[in-house]
Amino acid sequence: MPQPKKVAPVSKKPEGVSKKAPQPFALVRGMRDILPSDQYYWRKCFEVAQGLCDAYGVDRVETPVLEESGLFVRGVGKQTDIVEKEMFSFETTGGEHVTLRPEGTAGISRAYIHHGMLNLSQPVKLWYWSQFFRHEKPQSGRYRQFWQYGVEIIGESDAVVDAQLALMAWRFLKDLGIDAVVRINSIGTAESRANYKSALAAYFRPKRSRLSEDDKKRLLKNPLRLLDSKEPGMAELKAEAPQIVDWLDETSKNHFMRVLEYLDEVGVPYQLDPFLVRGLDYYTQTVFELYDTNETEETAQSALGGGGRYDGLMEILGGRPTPAAGFALGIDRVVSRLKSMPHEQQEKKVDVFVAQLGEAGRKRALALFEEFRLAGIKAAEAFAKNSIKTQMETANRCGARWAIIVGQKEVLDGTAIIRDMDAGTQEIVDGRKVVHEIQKKMAITE
Ligand code: HAM
Repeated sequence: MPQPKKVAPVSKKPEGVSKKAPQPFALVRGMRDILPSDQYYWRKCFEVAQGLCDAYGVDRVETPVLEESGLFVRGVGKQTDIVEKEMFSFETTGGEHVTLRPEGTAGISRAYIHHGMLNLSQPVKLWYWSQFFRHEKPQSGRYRQFWQYGVEIIGESDAVVDAQLALMAWRFLKDLGIDAVVRINSIGTAESRANYKSALAAYFRPKRSRLSEDDKKRLLKNPLRLLDSKEPGMAELKAEAPQIVDWLDETSKNHFMRVLEYLDEVGVPYQLDPFLVRGLDYYTQTVFELYDTNETEETAQSALGGGGRYDGLMEILGGRPTPAAGFALGIDRVVSRLKSMPHEQQEKKVDVFVAQLGEAGRKRALALFEEFRLAGIKAAEAFAKNSIKTQMETANRCGARWAIIVGQKEVLDGTAIIRDMDAGTQEIVDGRKVVHEIQKKMAITE
């Protein structure tokens, strides 16, 4: 008699699944979550930015996170740290070479050219509130994904624009309660800068042995970068270095003087910084950065923002020669400053808490909540909770002045209970007039 074949026992786990419990995912290095507890600060920054831009007649624009890599190579500059070391670039399955934008100015300039904004009334004033990506060494104040609020004024070369931008950036911080100073310099035209670069190289060359390996490379490739080097011993060497202001042509000098006069006029505090050159190649003439005057320990991550004029960028990107200037503020850093400062009440307290008892009460409460919202009254709820005690505890926690209670009985009677949370008293009101009753009470207590 044939024996039945032995069948292998069926595995309880599907193939390819390890027996170990799945591990939770960690954050990708340099990335971070912005949690609800921080949203108050982010919102505050956004509101101040939006208010300022509305007042200054600046229109919002948002460009894509992904751009052709060449835009940044050409726009920001092949030999900048951003392009050399920090770009998140990859090839798509379609063979396109793309980059997660490391900054906003090149993308906005591309959009200006692409959409023929030259034909609009000039200058075109644009602002953005966007996320950017740089593959830098992550540390406090330096992330691989970060936010900037930026403004670009395109199509105007007058010095008043440079000053207005520095004023706007400074005012943004001031309105948030941060006392900032604008560090400012002029790097002149491309021609004056070329002469200055030669002078700088001639000064540093005999001191080559005292430079770090990175600075030796900077000396060869772009001596201007030596000025923003933070290597130890550099401050001493820089002190004696030639200063760009002595190499500026008359037009650049006049432009810079006018920017400073305008800043004096509007009372924006500034410091001349002869070694401020900025890490992006598109700048011409004015460059500036913003620092918190109360920050005691300065690091490479201390700049809250930076900007300047970039009259040559449009042409580099294939557009018609168009003067432009702008700034961007690092919102992650601004928020971190705000969080370290004393603050008043963080969130607006709720006006009413809508409590319910039983299924019929819950249905009515759901609709009532919507009525409060439409009337502009800030309401809170805990509809998934059954216990009235738990709901009253929640009402207290969120600082509600009144609780509205609707149960089976109230639904049948067409009424609602209004409980004064401070006094502990209750009254029964017509269910259709409950919103109106609260409006009356709010008018009295205001
Ligand atoms: P930026 O100086 O490279 O300029 O960046 C502006 C600000 O963004 C910095 O001052 C800093 O607060 C913040 N930031 C930069 N990198 C990081 C990072 N890895 N983590 C956190 N915050 C960061 C620009 O991007 C120019 N596009 C500004 C501009 C606009 N110039 C003319 N128009």
